[in-house]
Amino acid sequence: MIGDKVMRIVILENADQVATAAADVIASTVQRHPEAVLGLATGGTPLGTYQKLVERAKRGEVAFDRVTTFNLDEYVGLPADHPQSYCTFMRRHLFEPGGFALERCYLPNGSVTTWQDLEEECRRYETLIQRAGGIDLQLLGIGADGHIAFNEPGSSLASRTRVKALTEQTRRDNARFFSCIDEVPRLAITMGIGTILEARRILLLATGEQKAEAVRAFVEGPVSAQVPASALQLHAATVVMLDAPAATLLARKEYYLSMERIQQRLEAGLPL
Ligand code: GLP
Repeated sequence: MIGDKVMRIVILENADQVATAAADVIASTVQRHPEAVLGLATGGTPLGTYQKLVERAKRGEVAFDRVTTFNLDEYVGLPADHPQSYCTFMRRHLFEPGGFALERCYLPNGSVTTWQDLEEECRRYETLIQRAGGIDLQLLGIGADGHIAFNEPGSSLASRTRVKALTEQTRRDNARFFSCIDEVPRLAITMGIGTILEARRILLLATGEQKAEAVRAFVEGPVSAQVPASALQLHAATVVMLDAPAATLLARKEYYLSMERIQQRLEAGLPL
């Protein structure tokens, strides 16, 4: 890639193209390295990508049975088999239809009830990631307030897996998955920003104009704990894939598009 140690900004026309391009990156990672360690995300954004990965697995183009996965986060207070737990979400949308080995698909366990057990669970999760050799490719979405995983604004950029309180905006945004906002948990276990930055490669997806301000802030604003995704400016190998609505507020959009055209020529082996 041109300019190692950069955050690469890829602007595509629509969410379907983002899903295809993201599925290409994940599938090719697993094809090259069938025992890859994937970091995975929940939310509406990665759903299209997961659907395409499942289709490819069903067609026999890629096999996920040897990968290990670590999800970013899980609500506190919901048992793993609760209909709105992130565990249930992942099983339904990716792990079961995609042929993943469930014993190697890890999520934090949010059903423990004491602070001591929660802290122990956070430590256990960090150890599991280390024992697996770290994360090869981490998939991320972004909250409308710039959060990644459940690292809400103000999170330390060096944070590790821990319990975080969700902001009211995040609870409102996620209420669509529950029957009412009162059912949305107030706490979650989340990988920290420091944990996420240790992934060897990161792929962040953002689609829709409701993400445009967060995208502008984390791509072109200063690195700040107030915009947790801005920490990715410090990461050596991050690709940000956006659809056109999510890219509307970027001041340097034309520049990113021209860099991508050069990148495409380079990858195709065409002369500059
Ligand atoms: C939640 C998740 C994040 C996700 C965010 C955005 O807060 N913890 O990992 O990125 O929602 O979700 P969506 O993709 O639905 O906009």
